[in-house]
Formats: sequence, structure tokens, C-alpha cells
Amino acid sequence: MINRAIDRLKETRYLLVITGAGISAESGIPTFRGNDGLWQNYRAEELATPWAFKKDPEVVWKWYDWRRGIIGKAEPNNGHLAIKKLEEIIERFFLITQNVDGLHGRTGIKNMIEIHGNLWRVRCERDGKTSMLMDVPLKSIPPLCACGNILRPDVVWFGESMPTEETQKAYNVMSLCDTLMVVGTSGAVYPVASFPQTVKEKGGFVIEINLEPTPISSIADISLFGKSGDILPAIVEGITGQKMF
Ligand code: OAD
Repeated sequence: MINRAIDRLKETRYLLVITGAGISAESGIPTFRGNDGLWQNYRAEELATPWAFKKDPEVVWKWYDWRRGIIGKAEPNNGHLAIKKLEEIIERFFLITQNVDGLHGRTGIKNMIEIHGNLWRVRCERDGKTSMLMDVPLKSIPPLCACGNILRPDVVWFGESMPTEETQKAYNVMSLCDTLMVVGTSGAVYPVASFPQTVKEKGGFVIEINLEPTPISSIADISLFGKSGDILPAIVEGITGQKMF
């Protein structure tokens, strides 16, 4: 199976990679669904919605501060590094990540959007400004803007619309790619969840990498089951003929 994926990628002119929480699992960052997932122990509607933030910004910020603590200690893993390598070796490349941890960015990858935002960026809803806030733990909870308003994490919460510019870019690259590789996502959250089907309908090829079957598996041309930190470097090595690590 992996050889078929390698052969396809060798012929690929425009690769779109989509990642979810699974790519960062081997960096020690919890995923959302599944047995140890965040949504097993926390209620999304109490922590990741605009209503929750309005009701109790302190509770929401404490949860994000805890996650920032975990993510702040994490490093990009072999899977992140292999994706960065794919950017270098495939003619045209784009990455859409649903992750807010910023780990892809730390590999130096260039052609990327973080479609659910970034948990190191904060936004003031009064003046609309965004800035990076790298403090771990936060000096004050909730953090305040210079204008006195409470800052929010610049991430997309349930019930909010996706950022227009990023979403347009995502649909644009999806329409241009000839191969889509979907890594470490349960395929439960739209719009990204609909991309494999759309790419297939326009004649593209879909490769999935996940620990286990997902709704994407029935659409994908190839599903590779295992850790993305093992499979992705093996794919890169298959394309380049050189050891990655
Ligand atoms: P999920 O937690 O729903 O799915 C993670 C997927 O990664 C699962 O299918 C796992 O089987 C797989 N996985 C875990 N470890 C892996 C590994 N080492 N290698 C390969 N696969 C692995 O996370 P997402 O699909 O990213 O949105 O969730 C999508 C969105 O739902 C998130 O961005 C977040 C969440 O609610 C918001 O907060 C708006």
C-alpha cells in the first residue's frame, strides 16, 4: 500500500495535505475524540463556543492556558518534519491544518493555513486587532488588550463562521490539487471533512493516514493505518531514496 502512495506522490503535480490533531499526538498533545480525547473529559460547549466565553472568560482562558502549557513544551515530531520535506520535494504543495498548536509553523513550512486559528494568537473583539501572546502561564487571566477589553484566543469556536480569506484559499487549493493527503483527522468537522469527497469527484486521488479507519477511509484510494510519525517519513524516504533521520 505504501508503495502505491509513494508512486502516486512521485507523479503528483499539486499536493494538498490536510492535518488534524493526530499529527501532533506523537508530540504529546491530546487529540479531541477517541478514548483519551479532550472531548471525553471536557464539554466543547462550555469551553469552545462564543457563548461560553461571554459567560465565563476566566474558565475558558484557564482551559486554554492549560493547553498552552502542554503545547509550549512540545516539539514538532517526525510527521511534521516529513510534511515540511514534502513541501520541498513536490512541485506544488499546500497544507491546511485544523490544529491551533502552531507546530507546523515551527518546522518552517511556508505554504500553509491554520484554518481553525492559532492558540498563541489573541484577538481583541473591540478593536479587531490580533497579536501574539507567548506567555506560559499567562500573567493575567483573562488577558487584557491595551484598550481594556478582554482578549480572546484567535481560534475558531463551535458556532462561529470560518475565517473568510483562509476558507477561500482552502477551497481554491482543493480545486487545484491532484492528490489530497489527509493525516490524523477523524473527519468529523466541516468544511475540511467534505474535501476528500470533493477531490474524488473532480478526479483527484486521496491518501489517508490514520491510526484507525475513519469516514474518510471509504472514500480514500489508499488508507495507511499507523502512526503518522512513522508513515510520513517512510513515504518521504520512498520518494527521495534517502533516509530522513
Ligand atoms: P480528532 O481528535 O477528532 O481526531 C484525531 C484523529 O487522529 C483520530 O482519527 C485518530 O485516530 C488519529 N490519530 C491519533 N494519533 C495518531 C497518530 N499518531 N498518527 C495518525 N493518526 C492519529 O481531531 P481532529 O480531526 O483534528 O476543532 O478534530 C477536528 C476539529 O475538532 C479540531 O480542530 C477541533 C475539534 O473540535 C475546534 O476546536 C473548532
